[in-house]
Amino acid sequence: AVERTFSMIKPDATRRNVTGAITAMLEEAGLTVVASRRVWMSRREAEGFYAVHKERPFFGELVESMSSGPTVVQVLQGENAIARNREIMGATNPADAAEGTIRKAFALSIGENSVHGSDAPETAAQEIAYWFSETEIVG
Ligand code: CMP
Repeated sequence: AVERTFSMIKPDATRRNVTGAITAMLEEAGLTVVASRRVWMSRREAEGFYAVHKERPFFGELVESMSSGPTVVQVLQGENAIARNREIMGATNPADAAEGTIRKAFALSIGENSVHGSDAPETAAQEIAYWFSETEIVG
């Protein structure tokens, strides 16, 4: 089925000016960018977005790095978009990411892993709604 998923190009990637290269890989994977905005999130916004991880030992580091520079928040649309995006992103830890994936090509470490993508339909809906109103999504 055609789905929507949420994607984020993280500060480690915007800093290296590879947002276009990453977006090209998403498009080559068959996904369409139906909403996109560059945003420098506040600590509070990062804490809210990643609230599910607030008890994790890496939460402070995660919030720090996500608010350290601009990100590009996007909505991707396509056939099986959630799984397709996770496939093209590659494993969370770049050491485990397969050849040809975004994280294999660009990620620096597990914390600075260049992209985020929703992991399930419920989280995709929540994460899209966190950053976009329905009128900003043009499919
Ligand atoms: P992401 O898909 O954005 O979801 C949560 C993020 O937490 C994850 O990608 C990683 O960047 C980060 N993360 C997960 N595990 C660790 C860890 N052990 N140390 C630092 N950051 C982590």
